[in-house]
Amino acid sequence: MRVAMIGTGYVGLVSGACFADFGHEVTCVDKDKSKIDALNKGKIPIYEPGLDELVANNARAGRLKFTTSLPDAVKTADAVFIAVGTPSRRGDGHADLSFVHAAAREIAAALAHFTVVVTKSTVPVGTGDEVERIIAETNPKAEFAVVSNPEFLREGAAIQDFKHPDRIVVGTDDVKAREVMSELYRPLYLNRAPILFTGRRTAELVKYAANAFLATKITFINEIADLAEKVGADVQEVARGIGLDNRIGSKFLHAGPGYGGSCFPKDTVALIKTGLDYGAPLRIVEAVAAVNDARKRAMARKVSAALGGDIRGKTIAVLGLTFKPKTDDMREAPSIPLITALQDMGAKVRAYDPVGMEQAKPMVGNVTFCDSAYSCAEGASALVIVTEWEEFRALDFARLKKTMAKAVLVDLRNVYSAAEVSRHGFAYESVGRTSKATA
Ligand SMILES: NC(=O)c1ccc[n+]([C@@H]2O[C@H](COP(=O)([O-])OP(=O)(O)OC[C@H]3O[C@@H](n4cnc5c(N)ncnc54)[C@H](O)[C@@H]3O)[C@@H](O)[C@H]2O)c1
Repeated sequence: MRVAMIGTGYVGLVSGACFADFGHEVTCVDKDKSKIDALNKGKIPIYEPGLDELVANNARAGRLKFTTSLPDAVKTADAVFIAVGTPSRRGDGHADLSFVHAAAREIAAALAHFTVVVTKSTVPVGTGDEVERIIAETNPKAEFAVVSNPEFLREGAAIQDFKHPDRIVVGTDDVKAREVMSELYRPLYLNRAPILFTGRRTAELVKYAANAFLATKITFINEIADLAEKVGADVQEVARGIGLDNRIGSKFLHAGPGYGGSCFPKDTVALIKTGLDYGAPLRIVEAVAAVNDARKRAMARKVSAALGGDIRGKTIAVLGLTFKPKTDDMREAPSIPLITALQDMGAKVRAYDPVGMEQAKPMVGNVTFCDSAYSCAEGASALVIVTEWEEFRALDFARLKKTMAKAVLVDLRNVYSAAEVSRHGFAYESVGRTSKATA
């Protein structure tokens, strides 16, 4: 099949490369010329494990192309995917659909035969109806069907997730569109990935409900972590104790500094707005978003408390800046409000991230960026693990201790145990565990 992918970001590039790998002919389009130029030179604009090889192989085989010309890609395509960004709209938190609507108008003008237009971007309920209206209005002669096919991949494991999804959700009641979607996803279907055909509005809501539920799970265990600290319990064992119950499941029960990233923060807020618009307020999700927001600065207070409550003039070393490991994505990373709060308290911040430094630089000011965990720790009164990159899992504590002003580790991802760290003479703070509970 011929596929046009509009938007060559995290989702568009991964989806496009994977569809090409299934044997389809894919053209990825982006209006960002520098991104397309880089891709045409074999440079991958984002960090995603395995993506460089996948793109190179499929580009070499002639199945994956990159262009800034949307009409060229659309006019021959059987399916056109909209994978542009849907950030939070400034001011009110609704999903900003201006990129989706603009793409729909451009696609409409280029449609030349029956084409399935697929919304892969995360969009509020009813967006498919609006995309359909825009296309029909812009090009009344166009033959098309608009389908919702939300994407569930996780950055850092995006290729694996795309190729081995828990499910594929397709929202359409158009018979021809259903056939095209089945054909596109046939390799996964043969691998027994369940494909859920449903209504378009239902598919749109599935995506938001899934993200809101996962954000709720994280926030729930974070609040249990706060309680565990007060009562002398260990949140990791609580998580294991509840996660072994199949009705609950063990995933997304890791206490930490609060969720961030390009999806959960904006998607929870957009869902809350949809709920309010339709007179069906989502009180649980409202609480989740508020609790998560408050948590980020609370983590700075935890760092301050580990140093006796005053960090003015002290140096804090931050390890890990991206919102999670194995990605360079800094969107809504918890490290940003944490660093700002530490600076507000008068601390000097040094930071290191294995891949996200270039993306982080424009997002946090007055930070000394370092080239390793060890140079970052030099002269610091506390070392704070914010993102659990593999290389932070086996730190040489003896080496760190020699250059730090004080031997204090604040582990916001519970990578270490208190017993292990204190053996090296470090004071240790983590999330939802008291030293007594873990020692
Ligand atoms: N990043 C994720 O992990 C993830 C996972 C699931 C779903 N999603 C959803 O997928 C969508 C895309 O997310 P992303 O992280 O890939 O965004 P992104 O910002 O990385 O990429 C979007 C790309 O679209 C391009 N673009 C915008 N308008 C265009 C137009 N008219 N024509 C051509 N290109 C255009 C931009 O230049 C940009 O390169 C969002 O709705 C997001 O919520 C993201």
